[in-house]
Amino acid sequence: MNQDQKEELNKINSCKSMEDLNDIRVELLGKKSKISAEFAKMKTIENHLKKEFAANLNKQKAELSKAIENKKVELEAIALENELKSSKIDVTRFNTDDNIGAHHPVSYTMNKIIRYFEKLNFKIESGPLVENDFNNFEALNLPKFHPARDMQDTFYTKDGNLLRTHTSPVQIRTMMNQKPPIKIIAPGNVFRRDFDLTHTPMFTQIEGLVIDDEDKISFANLKFILEEFLQHMFGDVEVRFRPSFFPFTEPSAEVDISCIFCKDEKSGKSTGCRVCSHTGWLEVLGCGMVDVNVYKAVGYEGVSGYAFGLGIERFAMLLHKIGDLRSLFDSDIRLLGQFK
Ligand code: PHE
Repeated sequence: MNQDQKEELNKINSCKSMEDLNDIRVELLGKKSKISAEFAKMKTIENHLKKEFAANLNKQKAELSKAIENKKVELEAIALENELKSSKIDVTRFNTDDNIGAHHPVSYTMNKIIRYFEKLNFKIESGPLVENDFNNFEALNLPKFHPARDMQDTFYTKDGNLLRTHTSPVQIRTMMNQKPPIKIIAPGNVFRRDFDLTHTPMFTQIEGLVIDDEDKISFANLKFILEEFLQHMFGDVEVRFRPSFFPFTEPSAEVDISCIFCKDEKSGKSTGCRVCSHTGWLEVLGCGMVDVNVYKAVGYEGVSGYAFGLGIERFAMLLHKIGDLRSLFDSDIRLLGQFK
């Protein structure tokens, strides 16, 4: 290797940027380069020396090309390294370890119920948590001092209002503000002075109300929709309607499903266990045809309709086999973490 070649290689090796390297490539291998001038001399060279002359030039050219190529790879690696160092990517943002949260079982159950009724064109309505006596009781055929009020132990405020004891006041609000046909569900929190294994002072209900012209809505409609709904929620269960009493519906029924905890897989029958108090049935909701006195209170005439109401926590407990209602409100990560 002669002095010139050494200098050329040095030049390549000490080069610091891609632009410089490109300039060097043009200078050393381009049309106006020394080596191109050397190749041009070929025609003046005597024939028997041509082969050796060409081989020598080609070797030099290949060495330079290789050095440039190596330098290019090196500079590209440095450029990438610098870019990674200077750009600020917060890789923790894409952390997919188990810090991801989960739906609370009550929200999960509520969403599942809402989605079911939304598909059937039910609209969602809501009302305030602090209600007046008229919407929560009077208009629902629960006059003052009526013993049926005792079923719903109530928090009263000093001004005579109250924390709503059920979502049924949303029925009243909706009927006062809208004309039939009405087809709504009303999810939300309700409050009662109760606290034990199956009661908390705050819990969540969902109310359903369907009103249309006289004779259009029958108990058969109510029965059909609730049977379909309960089988959607709990799978292959039997559904039973038991005569009951609510002041705002007539006739009224409580609805049971066959117990999902003691169901015998072979016969499909529920044989009785602790959860169902050895009856084989679990009570899941209340319902009935809207009472005429409710229509009177809101000024409706010539209509027919049904209503139903259920406690979402109860559904969540059954769906997830949770034994103590209060644990739904303890915010204990050991429980909630299981619902990812
Ligand atoms: N509001 C009743 C309760 O909380 C449930 C219900 C709603 C019953 C609608 C019948 C019709 O117990």
